[in-house]
Amino acid sequence: VSLKSYNTFGIEAKASHFFTFRSVDQLQQALEQSAGMPLLVLGGGSNVLLTRDFEGLVLKNGLMGVELIEETEEHYYIKVQAGENWHQFVLKAIENGWGGIENLSLIPGTVGAAPMQNIGAYGVEIEQVFDHLEALEIASGQLRRFNHAECAFGYRESVFKKELKGRFIICSVTFKLTKAHEFNTSYGAIQQTLDEMGVTQLSIKAISDAVIKIRQSKLPDPAQIGNAGSFFKNPSVDKIDYEGLKAEFTNVPGYNQPDGKVKIPAAWLIEQAGWKGKTFGNIGVHKLQPLVLVNYGGGNGNAIKELAFDIQASVSQKFGIELHPEVNII
Ligand code: FAD
Ligand code: EPU
Repeated sequence: VSLKSYNTFGIEAKASHFFTFRSVDQLQQALEQSAGMPLLVLGGGSNVLLTRDFEGLVLKNGLMGVELIEETEEHYYIKVQAGENWHQFVLKAIENGWGGIENLSLIPGTVGAAPMQNIGAYGVEIEQVFDHLEALEIASGQLRRFNHAECAFGYRESVFKKELKGRFIICSVTFKLTKAHEFNTSYGAIQQTLDEMGVTQLSIKAISDAVIKIRQSKLPDPAQIGNAGSFFKNPSVDKIDYEGLKAEFTNVPGYNQPDGKVKIPAAWLIEQAGWKGKTFGNIGVHKLQPLVLVNYGGGNGNAIKELAFDIQASVSQKFGIELHPEVNII
């Protein structure tokens, strides 16, 4: 099976076996029958870089359903099956007046992959609205419940990318969403965009619209240009190192973090190292957002991986800062 239409980078790679599971029973059966085969779970394929054909079973998530399971005075508890499209769920939440995820509008991919890297954007991370999830343990075929602490969320991190990597398949996620909304407009250009849009009365819909507008103005649409969003994470450095950097590069941007470190935009480092907008055959570095590596069509996964290595090396040489991939390289 060709995986080209199953990854937003649009990389051509083949899987020897492919199955879309539409129930947990089907998933359990598929796992029993596949005993020992390498496995790759795919949601929307919007955070993977395929560098080779996959000799094994690709399990495409087809678990669907959105359910209001509990309501308290302040919250709605919404259980969402892992194969649901994230942005469609955000739109549904807005329609129903469920608050808390409007800042996360237009992030590609599935609900099941969202806790994997604790998706975040415009001042909000999924962990802020996360209640619990259910995941199937591959070794035992048993469902297990994970609460917030057990997921060990961090910036673009969770236990599923670290200690439990490759051991669980997330089947559903339950969110705790608000009835009385707290609007988060402090990040980046949200307030300015709301003003430009003539919004006088804040609402979760207005924030979602503003976020969509900002994102469409700077991120390439995978339907037009293959990409997986930010290729690297934004690095954090100790304050003293940031000061040292600032002495040499006076305009280096930096954002103070709760842990005392300073986060530096990788996009700035990559741009300063001269990569912004560069193309190499049919791949390259996006012209508006250099943190996004792109495939203009027919690009090779290994070539993109090599380009990422070259960028890492040049940023390391110029600034002494190591960039770490955010995308899952397969
Ligand atoms: P996939 O790419 O299918 O999978 C990602 C990883 O998770 C793989 O390792 C896969 O094996 C594993 N996985 C997938 N589903 C499951 C499951 N059910 N159980 C266990 N493991 C699983 N991310 C952000 O955080 N913020 C952004 O603002 C953002 N913007 C983006 C913009 C663009 C244009 C693009 C293309 C990507 C962006 N991303 C962003 C990255 C991406 O949208 C998220 O990482 C998203 O959660 C990936 O979902 P997916 O279903 O496509 O995952
Ligand atoms: N910048 C440049 N040159 C550029 C673009 C940006 O120097 O060409 C610098 C500027 O200083 C700018 C800063 O980078 O202020 C930040 O840029 P931007 O607001 O575009 O955000 P980002 O840090 O590059 C992060 C996330 C995105 C998320 C946005 C909005 C990471 C790795 N990326 O990008 O997430 O959508 O913030 O919150 O944290 C993703 O994870 O795939 C992703 C797209």
